[in-house]
Amino acid sequence: MNVAETLMTRSGKLMVAVLFVIWAGTILLVIDTRRNYTDRGSRDTECPCRLQRHSDEIPLSPVQANASNPEDSKPKTIVKVLKYCRHEKSNSTVGRQPSQSGGEKSPQRLPPNDRPAHPPGKPKPPGRKYTNPHPYYFTMKNPGACKQFTNKHGYVDALCLVLTAPGDSYMRSLIRKTWGSAKLVKGKRIVTMFLLGRRDAETQHLLELENNHYHDIIQENFLDSYYNLTLKTLMGLRWAAQLCPNARYIMKVDVDMFVNVYNLVDRLDTAPTLNFAEGNLKDVTEPIRNRQSKWYTSRDVYPDKTYPPYLDGPAYLISGDLSARIFGTSLNVRFLPWEDAYMGIIMHRIGVEPRFNGKYSNYLDYDNMQDTLRKISQSVAFHLGEDKEENRENILMVWNYVRKLNDIPVLEE
Ligand SMILES: *[C@@H]1O[C@H](CO)[C@@H](O)[C@H](O)[C@H]1NC(C)=O
Ligand SMILES: *[C@@H]1O[C@H](CO)[C@@H](O)[C@H](O)[C@H]1NC(C)=O
Ligand SMILES: *[C@@H]1O[C@H](CO)[C@@H](O)[C@H](O)[C@H]1NC(C)=O
Repeated sequence: MNVAETLMTRSGKLMVAVLFVIWAGTILLVIDTRRNYTDRGSRDTECPCRLQRHSDEIPLSPVQANASNPEDSKPKTIVKVLKYCRHEKSNSTVGRQPSQSGGEKSPQRLPPNDRPAHPPGKPKPPGRKYTNPHPYYFTMKNPGACKQFTNKHGYVDALCLVLTAPGDSYMRSLIRKTWGSAKLVKGKRIVTMFLLGRRDAETQHLLELENNHYHDIIQENFLDSYYNLTLKTLMGLRWAAQLCPNARYIMKVDVDMFVNVYNLVDRLDTAPTLNFAEGNLKDVTEPIRNRQSKWYTSRDVYPDKTYPPYLDGPAYLISGDLSARIFGTSLNVRFLPWEDAYMGIIMHRIGVEPRFNGKYSNYLDYDNMQDTLRKISQSVAFHLGEDKEENRENILMVWNYVRKLNDIPVLEE
């Protein structure tokens, strides 16, 4: 009996010891995973598709902003956590940790209808890959560019993302001198950033000098080319979601567009603040199946007969909440090199209906001055004219005209 009892307790103790070792091992593993994960996230390289957004101040929709209590009209903190890292285990404690810590720091009420209707960052089951991962990392990031310029409520009114080519420093300098210099217009804050990819080492060197001076370039390590414009726009939205989540609106423009910042801020006064996208609407467009075309689109790339309605690429405006949703959704939407059509596909998927507004689509024709001046004074964004060298500098003339029309000082650097 004695011997048996001793054995029982011995094996009991053994069992307890074994269980303890397993338990301790698990804890260590979790801690280790968490540390690795944090390290990687901060370097932003190993885990490039990770996008996180938590305890950010998100401007409220106009209805909520109208609450009778003036305290209520301030932007509230909304806890959002979006994770897109496919290296990450979907169920680890690590995954849930940010939202909990974010919630502790800022225990705010969460109006349920203010959450994105379709959380883009639903972790996928382990082992399944994204259709369209974004495996790039920032090589120029300017993490403070937007935050530094937020108002006392913690947001900026508009973030202008200008798509440029790396070698286009001259056009960037013209934009910086003209509409891009307007940072505070009628009390509204505008941040303008230039988006580009990579080219050769020499260009990169010049870009670094330029960026060290102006701190307004966003670059990822993909090759800059026409067929990578979609990556460029997605990069901009990723940056907006990560580093400018409190932008109420985002304007995407090509480098040859002119933004009439006065009309832009007027437009913001009445535009919806959530789920909103407007520009020159392309209602029904068919993919080009002609193999000789620059825009040839095979059925493998896009099988459907038409694209969903989309906003013409040169200039469109979206509400800030869409940056994270569009970028997040893009990870599961097959890549298409036509960035505007691609954005339309994503908007369709997340239930955002792009709207037509005629103030985004005009071309200036300098032979018809009357018409040109009318377009300049009425549009939010317009094309500076045919892509000719001499038209580039018209931006200076147009800017002077726009300023005179509005006769309102803008804050320049
Ligand atoms: C907010 O209040 C203003 C004036 O009090 C009113 O004109 C506007 O329609 C209201 N907006 C909403 C969305 O309720
Ligand atoms: C993972 O999370 C899901 C939903 O949160 C849950 O249903 C499932 O049981 C979890 N799996 C594991 C292995 O913890
Ligand atoms: C787009 O960028 C990627 C990453 O740099 C590159 O591999 C690819 O060739 C580029 N595509 C085009 C069409 O230039």
